[in-house]
Formats: sequence, structure tokens, C-alpha cells
Amino acid sequence: MAATIIDGKALAAKTKENVRAEAEKLSRKPGLAVVLVGDDPASRVYVNGKKRDCEECGFYSEEYALPADTTQEALLALVTELNGREDIDGILVQLPLPKGLNEKEVLLSIDPSKDVDCFHPFNVGQLTIGEPVYQPCTPGGVMEMLREYHIDPAGKRCVVLGRSNIVGKPMGMLLLHANGTVVTCHSKTPDMAALAASADILVSAVGKTGLVTGDMVKEGAVVIDVAMNRNEAGKLCGDVCYEEAAARASYITPVPGGVGPMTRAMLMKNTLKAAKLHQGL
Ligand code: GUN
Repeated sequence: MAATIIDGKALAAKTKENVRAEAEKLSRKPGLAVVLVGDDPASRVYVNGKKRDCEECGFYSEEYALPADTTQEALLALVTELNGREDIDGILVQLPLPKGLNEKEVLLSIDPSKDVDCFHPFNVGQLTIGEPVYQPCTPGGVMEMLREYHIDPAGKRCVVLGRSNIVGKPMGMLLLHANGTVVTCHSKTPDMAALAASADILVSAVGKTGLVTGDMVKEGAVVIDVAMNRNEAGKLCGDVCYEEAAARASYITPVPGGVGPMTRAMLMKNTLKAAKLHQGL
């Protein structure tokens, strides 16, 4: 039977609609500050998308586009200023930062209550002990997709390809909290293909076009493709050989139109939550 396509675009639209309705009830608009350092074209596309999402959700937003030669001190000073602003609920510093800037120190300087990316060690710790304040956007979006399609990770073998701080690690944590049995694979994992082929839920977040071939998908598995790669023709694609995988999977996410829109919707959800927290709700 053909796989059901998980429609991230539709779920993101629904999520943002709910966020907008909730935001309208607040006495003050949720405010998001987005900080972009340098001129990475992919980051520029993401930041433009976030601005549009804020408009759709009725949020106040500010963008700080800083030159690539911005100093660490200047960036930290901006974050400190935003930390103190009452009209700003969320602060997002777009990653990766240009070489020479200390990413760790910047993330640590963000007030954890405004860390809508869920990158601050305090929030990562809260997530690890199962008491998250914010959901990390991409893995949180994946969990919302699973819920929407009534896919329960409990008792399932979940294999995550990739161990980044942004996706792989928090993804494994969320699946574990949902009672999945989690295996995280990375560049030093022997026989990743066999592990992938044993998954009931397979999440790929490596960033390598063609990594997941059809034979790495168990019959009836759920396949979630987090990657946003460009193939030789410049076309957006994920890690998964889509046609081959879809022939075996029960559910599959497309690229584009899968995880990407949900990541952005989760950022809006987190910013709404931050606004509520800051308003004592
Ligand atoms: N770069 C790639 N993904 C993300 C994200 O979710 N948040 C931030 N701040 N930077 C990113």
C-alpha cells in the first residue's frame, strides 16, 4: 500500500492559526527579535520566513541584520539589551554564526525565559529531565506531526540518524520521553544501514542527499526526513530517496512541505508561550 504523506504545510498552517487565536487574547502582542550575523543566503531565507510567520500570527517582530565582522562584544551587548526589553519575549540568534564568534557564549547569554530555540543549557537540561519549558523547534515539530497522524512512539524502535545539538540529540530525548526505544546513529556508527532498517520510526537529520535508500526502510516504517539539502540541480531535497522509501513506508514526510514548515510553526508556539510566561499566565 502507498505511504500516507505527512502534510507538514497543512499542520503548520493549523498550528499558526491556533497560535494567532491565542495571541489575540493577550493584552500585549508576543514579541520576537531575530538576530542574523553575516550574509549566509540560507540563513537569510530562514529569517525572512520567520518574519512572515510573525506577521501571520499577529506578533511584533524585530530583525537585527549585523555585518559578518561584528565583534563578540557587540553581539553580547545586543543580546543583553534584548534580554532587558519588556516588549521582546523571544530572542533568536540565527546559527551558524560567522567564524570567529563564540556560539556557545552567545547562546549562554540569552535569558533562558526568552530562549525560544531551546538552545540554552538550562532549557536543554529541563528537556533532559522531562520538564521542558520550550520544545526545541524541529524535534518538537516532528512530535506534533506524529501526534497529528496518531503515531505513538511508545514501545517502538526509533532510530535517529544524526546527533546534532539542534536536531539529533533533542529528537532522541523527545522520543525517549514518549516511551520509544531510541538508537542514535552518527558518523562513527558501524552498520548504520542495518540499524535504520530495524526502525519502526526512522528520523534522518544528517544533511546528506541520498543517504537513506529504500533498503534502509523497514516495510511499514514511519519515515521522517529533517534534512534540507540541495541536489546537483539546485533542487531542495532531504536525506531520503523519497520514491524508494515511500514504496515501503506507512507514513513519510516530503521535502519540502514536511518538517520545515513545522519547525517554523513551533517557533511561533514557543514565542507565544514566552509571552504568556512573561505576562504571568
Ligand atoms: N539554524 C538552523 N536551524 C536553526 C534554528 O532552528 N534556530 C536557529 N537559531 N538557527 C538555526
